[in-house]
Amino acid sequence: MDIEAVIFDLDGVLVHTDHHHYLAWKRMCDEEGIPFDEAINDRLRGISRMACVNIVLEKASRRYSQQEKMHLAERKNGYYKEKLQSLSAADLPSGIVETLDTLREKRIKLAVGSSSKNAPYILERLGLSRKFDVVADGNDICRSKPDPEVFLLAASKLGVRPDRCLVIEDAAAGVEAAFRGGMWVAAIGEACVCDMADYQIGQIEELLPILQANGSVAH
Ligand code: BG6
Ligand code: MG
Repeated sequence: MDIEAVIFDLDGVLVHTDHHHYLAWKRMCDEEGIPFDEAINDRLRGISRMACVNIVLEKASRRYSQQEKMHLAERKNGYYKEKLQSLSAADLPSGIVETLDTLREKRIKLAVGSSSKNAPYILERLGLSRKFDVVADGNDICRSKPDPEVFLLAASKLGVRPDRCLVIEDAAAGVEAAFRGGMWVAAIGEACVCDMADYQIGQIEELLPILQANGSVAH
């Protein structure tokens, strides 16, 4: 295993905007009278906004037209963006900036691979935009995770072979996407139950020791 690049998922890996997504869906579902809970929210991890609407509506008591679905997606995104307005570097989980800086010092290339169309805005608010060599996100792709498109795009923008990339993911759909893309994958948080992952990590600080242990970076 010779890792030249690490591709980070955004929501739930670099920052806990996964909780903001939950709150926005919950608000919309409460207003619509649609049951929604953490278990349903976990199924939305890594999935595009419109695909999420279809999952959320599985519990609805009536059918929604395509136009209504688009309005629901826009409404949820409005609630989500309200939450994002207060986002700042103070919301970064411990160890994120240090890990990114250390990997860069060790000449590992860095990318974001996210299904979110809000990724550029979030990275800017967190002061992370310039920490990555490339960003591939929901604005650049046609097929969201578990399709590997976003990760393959990140690898190709970096000019690194897929089998030299390690993806960090909190979503089962994201772990599957990395696996299908022929990449190495470390699961974090909710994705740790996913048996397609090569590594399971509790927090981001565990990443560097993995790369040191397999010889990709020096101690
Ligand atoms: C992913 C999240 O990162 O982005 C999903 O895990 C979300 O839950 C998806 O649906 C799309 O996000 P956005 O910001 O474009 O609605
Ligand atoms: Mg995620």
